[in-house]
Amino acid sequence: MKIAVLPGDGIGPEIVAQAVKMLEALRSDGLKIEMEYAHLGGAGYDAAGDPFPPATEKLAHAADAVLLGAVGGYQYDMLPRPMRPEQGLLRIRKGLGLFANLRPALVYPELANASSLKPELVAGLDIMILRELTGDIYFGQPRGIRMLDNGEQQGFDTMMYSESEIRRVAHVGFQIALKRGRKLCSVDKANVLDTSMFWREIVIDVAKEYPAVELSHMYVDNAAMQLVRAPKQFDVILTGNIFGDILSDEASMLTGSIGMLPSASLDAHNKGLYEPCHGSAPDIAGADIANPLATILSVAMMMRYTFAREDIAQRIETAVRKTLQQGLRTADIAEAGMQKIGCAAMGDAVVAAL
Ligand code: IPM
Ligand code: MG
Repeated sequence: MKIAVLPGDGIGPEIVAQAVKMLEALRSDGLKIEMEYAHLGGAGYDAAGDPFPPATEKLAHAADAVLLGAVGGYQYDMLPRPMRPEQGLLRIRKGLGLFANLRPALVYPELANASSLKPELVAGLDIMILRELTGDIYFGQPRGIRMLDNGEQQGFDTMMYSESEIRRVAHVGFQIALKRGRKLCSVDKANVLDTSMFWREIVIDVAKEYPAVELSHMYVDNAAMQLVRAPKQFDVILTGNIFGDILSDEASMLTGSIGMLPSASLDAHNKGLYEPCHGSAPDIAGADIANPLATILSVAMMMRYTFAREDIAQRIETAVRKTLQQGLRTADIAEAGMQKIGCAAMGDAVVAAL
């Protein structure tokens, strides 16, 4: 297992260090794991003047899987756009062809009270959001800021999806649904956007190959509402890049903390980049209070999707669950009166439970 490790910025290095502890424990158990480090995001800019330096690109291409912390920091906000940390993230996703972004929202029974929704609305919740990751308004051209004839400036972006982009992610969606509750809800804005009308047409066509999956469609505004009204109605949500960005942040809060949510971004051959859904949280970087569980759970997804080791994935997930059952909590998931532990202590506890 050749893993490229990209700690990134902010809390990235400290949460990744906990996931690396876990990988080292698995290696002492006999797994053949090789890890090599490189810079991404602000760390790439600082080290090599590029948020996605060539050395990182080379390492990421050669690896079977990439483990990423997070990118971004206040000190980079003033840089010209191509040099900003987020560009490094978008370029590695695009460069590796990671079009299928899996963001599970799973409520652990121990954390049902940590959700901002009533526990009965979220207890047992298990949603998979499949977000298309390399198309849409994120990458559409033309884009920019231009001067109009009347002397006023105008900002513009282009939303677009080609048929092949929709088809391949739709196939992934139906296949995931087959392995779960066999329900797929495609989210779009087909009442307004041509891109969405086309998206819906293609998804309906792909559905013909999956008669066992129940397909439904929902407008994105309604989906945003339904996620907080009755989130358990969903099994798999299939959606485009921008809608998936927004809905996955919303869904994360159902689970109690965005600090619990792992993600996998896969290419057509199950090579993947694994990262927590949360960002670099520069305000708490270095304070040893970040929650490393999303990153550790991202390693579980790596074992499941890239290395086809469901056994190890479940071992990691069970270790996380045991740690929660022991009452151990980082600040973001602690209820009143509960003892809080730091990032490194949480990493140690999960490794011990493993
Ligand atoms: C995410 C993030 C990124 C995105 C940013 C950091 C570019 O919000 O992974 O959801 O918009 O995709
Ligand atoms: Mg986001």
